[in-house]
Amino acid sequence: MKTWKYSIGIALFFIVFSCAKNQSTETAELTKAEIDSITDPAKGIGVVRNVALNTPLELDRVEKGKAIYEGECNSCHTLDDQRLVGPGWKDITKRRKPEWIMNMITNVDVMLDNDDQAQELLESCGTRMAVEVLTLGEARDVLEFMRQNDGEK
Ligand code: HEC
Repeated sequence: MKTWKYSIGIALFFIVFSCAKNQSTETAELTKAEIDSITDPAKGIGVVRNVALNTPLELDRVEKGKAIYEGECNSCHTLDDQRLVGPGWKDITKRRKPEWIMNMITNVDVMLDNDDQAQELLESCGTRMAVEVLTLGEARDVLEFMRQNDGEK
């Protein structure tokens, strides 16, 4: 009776184990080329895939974005083209897609580890951007402030 129970136990163990193993091979990681083909690398890596920009600027967002900049970003970023710790923000909205900028702000560690353009920056700056991760709404506010800084009305 006991051995019978043991063998069922052992059989169950193997079934569970082999299922678990199957599952982990099914969630095989995508290669970088596969990821690039379904996402747009110029938009960066993260949940932000489509940002609608409005003209004229949303001034309430500009104000909030400015406050965030002054509170959390200006120790490392200037508003002109001069590098402090990180790159100056002048013309960033012309160099980068809005989605890339927002993913960089909300998903910075993943971006620095995996995104080609973010990695180039990391190499040239030599310091990792260390910052409180912002919410999507806050990142959108900062983006609006950047647009104003780049001369948009
Ligand atoms: C401690 C310094 C530091 C702080 C604070 C900081 N950053 Fe950065 N940031 C960097 C560095 C350094 C880079 C370049 C990438 C790297 O080396 O990590 C960077 C890169 C960026 C980039 C990409 C720049 C480009 O030219 O493409 C954006 C956008 C950005 N930061 C936004 C922000 C925002 C928004 C804040 C404030 C909420 C902030 N950063 C606060 C250091 C900082």
